[in-house]
Amino acid sequence: MTVPTETHRGKSSLARALLGWLLIPLFFLLAVSAYTTYRNAYHLAQTERDLVLEEITDDLKELVSDELESKGKIDPGALAFSLLIQDARDTRYFAIYDASGALLAGNPRLVRTEAGDGSTKRAAFDNISLNGKRLRRAVLHGALAELPGFEIQVAETMVRRNRLTLHLLRGVLVPQIVVLALSIPLILFGVNRGLHSLEALRRRITHRSAQDLDAIPVDNAPRELLPVVTALNDLLSRFKAVQEEQRRFIADAAHQIKTPLAVLTAELDLALADPACPCARPTYERVQTAVSRLAHLVSQLLALAHSEAIAGQTHALFDLAELAREVTGDFVAAAARKRIDLGFEGPEQAIPLQGNAVLVREAMKNLLENALKFTPEGGTVTASAQAFPPVFSVADSGPGIPEAELPLIFRRFHRAAESSTTEGSGLGLAIVQEVARRHGATVVAGKSELGGALFELRFDDGTVSQP
Ligand SMILES: Nc1ncnc2c1ncn2[C@@H]1O[C@H](COP(=O)(O)OP(=O)(O)OP(=O)(O)O)[C@@H](O)[C@H]1O
Ligand SMILES: [Mg+2]
Repeated sequence: MTVPTETHRGKSSLARALLGWLLIPLFFLLAVSAYTTYRNAYHLAQTERDLVLEEITDDLKELVSDELESKGKIDPGALAFSLLIQDARDTRYFAIYDASGALLAGNPRLVRTEAGDGSTKRAAFDNISLNGKRLRRAVLHGALAELPGFEIQVAETMVRRNRLTLHLLRGVLVPQIVVLALSIPLILFGVNRGLHSLEALRRRITHRSAQDLDAIPVDNAPRELLPVVTALNDLLSRFKAVQEEQRRFIADAAHQIKTPLAVLTAELDLALADPACPCARPTYERVQTAVSRLAHLVSQLLALAHSEAIAGQTHALFDLAELAREVTGDFVAAAARKRIDLGFEGPEQAIPLQGNAVLVREAMKNLLENALKFTPEGGTVTASAQAFPPVFSVADSGPGIPEAELPLIFRRFHRAAESSTTEGSGLGLAIVQEVARRHGATVVAGKSELGGALFELRFDDGTVSQP
C-alpha cells in the first residue's frame, strides 16, 4: 500500500476497517474462551481441593477411632488434631460432634448440620461464612463401635483454591493473548495483500494519460471491485461521447465558417481590384488581413479537431523521409520571400512508419510554419529526418524559446509575449502534440545549433514497420 500522505490523513482506511472487523470477533472469542477457561479451572481446583478435605475428614475419623480405642475418650486439645489440620497457606477448622449433638473436639462455630441417614460413606461439601471469611466445608457422618453416631466437619479458606484457579487460567489465557497479539501484524499483512488489487487498479488509473478515455479492462479486477470499475467505465464512455460531440461541433462550426469566409475573401479581392473607389482601399486591406487571420484560425481549429478525432483514424505505412522532403519543399517559396535559407537533410532510403500521413504532414507543416514565422529575414531553417529512431526535426536561427516558456508553448491558444507582433492563433504546437500523441510519439522543444529553436518529433521504434 502507499504511504499515507497529508491528504490521506484523517480519511477512513479500508485496511484499518477490515482489521477492526476481524479483531472484534477475535476479542469476543477471547472473552468467551476466558470465561469458559475460568469456569473449568474453578471446577478443577474445587474438585482437587475437595479431595484433600475429604482425606482430612477420613484421617480425623481414624484418629477419633484410635483415641477412643486406646483411651476410651477424646482429648479435645490433642496435638494430633491440630497437626492434622494445619496448612501453610489456608486456615483450617474442624469440629467433631457425637450423635446427641455434643461437641467432642474442635471449633464450636462450625455449627452441627442436620444429621444424615448414614447411607453414604462420603463427605458432603458446601460453602459457608466464618468470621467474614468464605470457607469450603466437608461434612462426614458415620458411626463407630465406640461412637454410634458422629459428625466430622473440616472447613478451609479459599487461598489454595483461588491460586490454583488463577494458575490454570493463566496457563491457558496467556498463550492465547500472545497468539492474538502476534496475529495482528499478520492480519494487517494479509489485509494489505488482499487489497493489492485495489492498489493495482489505482496505479493503472493514475498512470493513464488525461486523453485516454478507453474502458479500464475488467478481466483482472476482483469480483468486489467489478461494480466500481464498471461504473467508472460507464462514466468514461459517457465522458468520451460528450467530448466527441464537442469535437464534432467545433469541426462542423469551423467547416461552416469556411464557406462564408471564402466568399468574403473573394468579394474583398474584387473590391480591391476596383479602381472606382480608391479611398476605401486602406479599409478593405485591413478587413482582408483580419479575414485571412480568421481563415487561418478556422483552418487550425479544423486541423486540431481532425487530429483529435477518435473515429475514422487510418493508420497506414508511409515514408517519413519522403513526406518530410515534400512538406519542406512546399515552404521553399515562403522561405524565399523572407530570404530565409531553408534546407533539408535526410537519408536517401525510406523511413517506413506506421501512422496517419495526413496528420503527420499537418504537424510538420506547423513546425516549419513556426520556424519561418519566428526566424527574422536572412536567417536559416533546417528540416531533417532520420531513422532509428525515426525523428523529424526543425531547427532555426530565430530568437529561440525562453526556458520559462517551454512548458507553456504546447498549450492551446498560448502565445509567448515576444510573439505578439507575429500572426498566429496559438494552436499550431497543440496540433503537433496531439498528432504525436496519436502516434505514441513525443515532441521536444529545445535550443538548436543554429542559435534558435529546435523541435523534434520523435517516433517510437515500435511505430516503425521493419522491412
Ligand atoms: N520556432 C520558434 N521560434 C520561437 N518561438 C516559437 C517557435 N515555435 C513556436 N514558438 C512559440 O510558441 C508559441 C506557440 O506556437 P504555436 O505554433 O502553437 O502558435 P502560433 O504559431 O503562435 O499560432 P498558430 O500556429 O496557431 O498560427 C508561439 O506563439 C511562439 O511564442
Ligand atoms: Mg504556429
